[in-house]
Amino acid sequence: MTIKPDWVQEAWDQTKAKVKRISHRIGDAFPHASVNGEYQLERASWWTAGFWPGMMWLVYRDTKDTYLKEAAESCERQLDSLLTDSQIVDHDLGFMWTLTSGARYKLLGAEDSKRRTLLAANLLAARFNVQGNFIRAWNGENIAGWAIIDCLMNLPLLYWASSVTGDPRYKHIAVKHADTVLKHFYRPDGSVAHIVVFDPETGEKLEVKGGQGHAPESAWSRGTAWAIYGMSLSYHYTGNQQYLDAAKQAAHFFMANLPEDSVPYWDFRSPEAFLSIRDSSAGACAACGLLLIADQVSSQEAGMYRKSGEKILHSLYTNYGAWESETEEGLILHGTSHFPEKKNVDVSLIYGDYYFVEGISLLMGNRERFW
Ligand code: GLY
Repeated sequence: MTIKPDWVQEAWDQTKAKVKRISHRIGDAFPHASVNGEYQLERASWWTAGFWPGMMWLVYRDTKDTYLKEAAESCERQLDSLLTDSQIVDHDLGFMWTLTSGARYKLLGAEDSKRRTLLAANLLAARFNVQGNFIRAWNGENIAGWAIIDCLMNLPLLYWASSVTGDPRYKHIAVKHADTVLKHFYRPDGSVAHIVVFDPETGEKLEVKGGQGHAPESAWSRGTAWAIYGMSLSYHYTGNQQYLDAAKQAAHFFMANLPEDSVPYWDFRSPEAFLSIRDSSAGACAACGLLLIADQVSSQEAGMYRKSGEKILHSLYTNYGAWESETEEGLILHGTSHFPEKKNVDVSLIYGDYYFVEGISLLMGNRERFW
C-alpha cells in the first residue's frame, strides 16, 4: 500500500475550492492561457477544449457538484458540430473527446457520450497514413506528412475504442503509430523530437523540426512529458514491454535534467539566456506519467518513479501554485505554450492545471484515469 504524503489532502482541498471558484466565471467556456490573471477563452475547436471540462469531471468525481457536471456536459455538447467537420478536427481529437465525452461515459455510463467518443475515434483513425505508419498531425497545405510527439496522448482514444467495440482495428493503428514514434522520434539518450516530416506518398522520413522546442535536436520538455505519459499509456493498453522501456527512458532523461526545484525548463537544451523560462505544464504531465510507470514496474523500481512524480507535484503546489490569489484564475503559474513564437510564455495553462489536478487526484487514491 502506498502512503499518501501529508500535503496532498491540503492540496486537493485547495484545488477543489479553486476550481469551484473559477467555474463561476468560466462556466461552460473553453479557457486556454491565463493572461493578467484571467483565463482567455478559446473557440471550441481549439485543441485545449477538453482540459477544463476534464478538470471539472475530476473534481465532480469527488464532490458530486452538479454545477460542475452540468457545465462539463454543456462543453461536451458544444463540441458536437466539430464531429461532422473532418477539416477542422485534427490529431488532437483524443485530448478533446477523451476528457469530455470519454470522461462522462466512464463516470456515468452515458450512451450518447459513448457514441460521441466512438465518432471521435473514427475520425482519428481516418488520419492514419498507411504508407508511413503515422497519424497525420495538423490540417493545412503541404503538411500531410507531418507527425508530432504530442499525438501519443491521443492514442488512448483508439485503444479505448477497440476495447469497447471488440474491433482491433483502432488498436492496430495506435500500435503502428507508437512504433513509428519509437523508430523515428526517440534518440538514444531518451530525448525526443517534436515534429517528424514524412513523405506522405512514400512514407519515407524526410526531416525533423524543432516545433515548439528550441531546435530540431533540442529537447522540448513538454514533448518529453508527452512521451513519458503517452508511452506508459500505450504499455497500459497493450502490455508491449518496448513501450514501458520507452516511457522509462524518456522519464530518466526528464528526471536527470530537472533543475533544483523539480520543475522543467521549457527546453532542456535551451540556450543559457532562456534557462529562466520554465514550463510547469510539462512538469505536471510528466508527473502523471511517472505515477503510472510506478504502477507498472516491480515494487523495487516503483519508489523512484513515484517519489519523482510526488516531488514535481509538491513543488508545483508549494512554489508555483496560486492558491490565495483573488486576481489569478490559473492554478499553477509559469507555463509556456509556444516559446519560439513567443505565445503564452510564463503563464498558467489549462493543460498544466488539468494535469496538476489529475496528479493530485491520483495521489488521493483515485487510480481510474480518463485516458
Ligand atoms: N499539443 C500542443 C502542445 O503541447 O502545446
